[in-house]
Amino acid sequence: MDLSQLSTVLAEISSEFDQRVVGATSLVAIDQLKSDFVGKKGKVALLYRQLGQIEASLRPSAGELINAVRDRIEATVDDLYPKVRQAERATIIATDVNDPTAIPRRLYRSSGRIHPVSRTRIELEDIFVGMGFSVEEGPEAESEWYNFEALNIPKFHPARDGQDSFYLDLEGEDQVVLRTHTSPVQIRVMQSQTPPIYAVMPGRVYRRDTADARHTIGFHQIEGLVVDRGITFGHLASTIETFTKAYFGPDMNARLRPAYFPFTEPSAEFEVTCTICRGQGCRTCSNTGWIELGGCGMVHPNVLRAAGLDPETYSGFAFGFGIDRLTQMRDEIADMRILTENDLRYMKTI
Ligand code: DAH
Repeated sequence: MDLSQLSTVLAEISSEFDQRVVGATSLVAIDQLKSDFVGKKGKVALLYRQLGQIEASLRPSAGELINAVRDRIEATVDDLYPKVRQAERATIIATDVNDPTAIPRRLYRSSGRIHPVSRTRIELEDIFVGMGFSVEEGPEAESEWYNFEALNIPKFHPARDGQDSFYLDLEGEDQVVLRTHTSPVQIRVMQSQTPPIYAVMPGRVYRRDTADARHTIGFHQIEGLVVDRGITFGHLASTIETFTKAYFGPDMNARLRPAYFPFTEPSAEFEVTCTICRGQGCRTCSNTGWIELGGCGMVHPNVLRAAGLDPETYSGFAFGFGIDRLTQMRDEIADMRILTENDLRYMKTI
């Protein structure tokens, strides 16, 4: 073979490529094209193998001729790739989005699952529904009145410190805050229902905190509210005790310790037997055998009044605790941040 014969063959290859490239509108077709022409066994590679039949002095020039065609083909293909990929995606998005058969088969086998925190919430709801409570919800963006004032937390109270709350910048609106607890839902429930009220209110809450092993800026609480005629602290204590045994097991106990919350009077913190050491004393419970779970108390008369109820007629109790904290205890998680990282190694154990 001499140089002019080589040039003829190259010209043929080139024009064949030019014809086929027009029809290469899918990634598969481009891959095929690439392998047919510049792949290991492609037409161009075969020519390199025939270089030996060319007179030695002409080989460098022959090599250059082949290189030029190879480079052009490769550049054309590389240029085509992103364009075709984009076009293919656009077609999929336009036509296949709602087509479940477009999901790769292997994904059918890995089923989704409920997030560990949602799982805890559902378990809690089930228990309280079993005890005769209804489940209520309220908005995550609240006016300052619902989040604070109606709950007997006046302006300049430390709990209102801008340090703790996220404020929304809504022009012309009253101050709107991302609720810092689920307690404002108490007010909404009391406004919209007439006693007897037996309700739990789970939901997401927000605090301006630095995330660490025990804190995240968005977490979940469940609030409880009972309002009826003649409700006493004894009803509160027995409700907490019943819940504790139902959720943690019959060998677990609850105890109340005096505390202060603006929206309840008297107020208490409730603690349950440490789930790690079952009351023996360990590092997690600082050797007390107890773990603090939440707050509770008798609904403050000012709160009843703010919601439009007469404290002479009605009394009630409320409680609130963290769902993430409970999940942390159940799954013995050292660092809360795992709850938002979606690490499948944890998610799959639940
Ligand atoms: N809202 C309180 C908090 O976020 C928890 C709480 C305490 C809720 C006492 C209550 C209660 O209903 O009675 O820390």
